Amino acid sequence: MRIPLIAGNWKMYKTMGEATAFVKELLPLVSGVTGVEIVLAPPFPSLGPVAALTAGTNVGVASQNMHFAEEGAYTGEVSPGMVKDAGAAYAIIGHSERRQYFAETDDSVNRKVKAALASGLVPVMCLGETLSEREEGRTFEVVERQLRTGLAGIPASDSSRVIVAYEPVWAIGTGRTATPAQAQEVHAFLRGLLSELWGATAARSVRILYGGSVKPENIADLMGRNDIDGALVGGASLKADVFANIVKFQ
Ligand code: 13P
Repeated sequence: MRIPLIAGNWKMYKTMGEATAFVKELLPLVSGVTGVEIVLAPPFPSLGPVAALTAGTNVGVASQNMHFAEEGAYTGEVSPGMVKDAGAAYAIIGHSERRQYFAETDDSVNRKVKAALASGLVPVMCLGETLSEREEGRTFEVVERQLRTGLAGIPASDSSRVIVAYEPVWAIGTGRTATPAQAQEVHAFLRGLLSELWGATAARSVRILYGGSVKPENIADLMGRNDIDGALVGGASLKADVFANIVKFQ
């Protein structure tokens, strides 16, 4: 049984004041929601404040990134232990914007996934093809490489603590959502690969989220598909009432 997970990735939006105001507005809107894990991923400065406000509620907290080292001379970076200490339970890793603008590679993603697990954080490992890769018919080849390299060396015993997020780059921030059928096709393919990697039972327990222009209008359709276990929401997670409507998709 995979519990659906809906996460709001705020990207580089919201000051601490805006973040705390959002949480105060969101909590009463979603307090009655059961059977869905709700997660917020604020920018680093707001991790602690958001974690403090959501402690003991049905809303969890994720970082949007982290370094793989536990400490060191890495100016500007934040370690897994620091993320955990701030109150986060999850870490988004390898988002396409990190890959595109900050030179993250499948190998650095793999190091980060391992570091997150070692620190007791649940990694939300992102992958997805670009528009040109899709148009060239390379979607499956690209996501297979990203999945296999990103999860290299991670044993099946850790599978229940790993979340995968499929985010086709062409659907991020464009208003152009993958159709539920397009997303399901890739999710099923990814679950097949997970089954090769970890066995069928473990693969069935891994949650695979979809991300890319998710909104209240399309969430139910996406969630209706067999292998879509939740969503990573960008733009539509910035307003509490809109995000609450996504969380309450059922
Ligand atoms: P949008 O929902 O704004 O398309 O962003 C998706 C995303 O990148 C979530 O991580």
